[in-house]
Amino acid sequence: MKKLFSGVKPTGKIHLGNYLGALKNWVDLQSKYDCIYSIVDMHALTIDIHPDELRDNSLKLAIDLLALGIDPKKSLLFRQSDVVGHTELAWIFNCLTPVSELERMTQFKDEASKKTGNINAGLLTYPVLQAADILLYRAETVPVGEDQLQHLELTRIIARKFNNRYQRYFPESKPIISPARRVMSLKYPDKKMSKSHGEASYIAIRDDEVTITKKIKKAVTDEQGILNLLELYSYFGQKEKYEEMMVLHKSNKLMSLQLKEELTKAVLEFLKPVQEKIAYYEDNESKVEKILRNGAKKAQRQADQTMAQVKQIVGLK
Ligand code: AMP
Ligand code: TRP
Repeated sequence: MKKLFSGVKPTGKIHLGNYLGALKNWVDLQSKYDCIYSIVDMHALTIDIHPDELRDNSLKLAIDLLALGIDPKKSLLFRQSDVVGHTELAWIFNCLTPVSELERMTQFKDEASKKTGNINAGLLTYPVLQAADILLYRAETVPVGEDQLQHLELTRIIARKFNNRYQRYFPESKPIISPARRVMSLKYPDKKMSKSHGEASYIAIRDDEVTITKKIKKAVTDEQGILNLLELYSYFGQKEKYEEMMVLHKSNKLMSLQLKEELTKAVLEFLKPVQEKIAYYEDNESKVEKILRNGAKKAQRQADQTMAQVKQIVGLK
């Protein structure tokens, strides 16, 4: 089976945008690839985050991933910082990466423009660490959200630079994009669902029934808003009902109240077993820790192999 790698930052709550745009693919691809999934806690250090929050987020994220369907029997799941090699390979890649390539990254420009004070160097070299995450396992396939395509392109540039400078060693990793490219905000129908636009704009997978019902009830229902809600329904609801509502919508007869009630029902139905699993893992944290430890141990073996060869190739050994 081909090797696949992906990572997610432990920077806060997982919402339906993250799930549909990225994590659902992680779950679905487990039977087709040799999957390695990482909670990229070192990437989270590029933003101001309290140590306790980072620790807590990482464990919660592991729980969420397991509850959403990441199966440790099929895939490796581990914390990035538990495996030696990610930052070591990132350093070697830093020495091959032109600063100008890093400065043109959209995510860097966005993050940097939000800062008032100094911009830390980690924010600039963030995509180099991301390339190291992927290439440490020589992964050929990387499921990501649309916003990560540019980082994937840079990963290929870095692999090419390494292969040209030394010898052909790294693959040129290809992205896989999920069908839900942009899940939209409930509150601002023309913006994507995101934590940065406030609680009312997203549904977190840990939100309770009352919160979810309220958020959907308050969702904006202009023309675009209705289309967004219909799209969201298409992912969680029944196919026939979706088609029925689309017909009603086209003839201007769809009541937004009906759509909202159906959507609420469908989302709650999807989240019920997920939240039951979250509760189970919350009560059994030691099991989660064991899964992460085991994942890290297996990932470390692969990482060690790559690093031994890379050190030989570049002349460090
Ligand atoms: P973030 O929460 O920005 O760290 O995103 C984590 C992953 O979820 C990334 O791969 C994003 O592309 C994906 N993602 C986040 N928000 C959305 C959204 N509204 N629609 C689709 N994908 C998303
Ligand atoms: N930068 C990615 C994001 O913001 C997270 C990430 C870090 C990642 N390393 C990765 C994704 C390696 C895919 C592969 O979502």
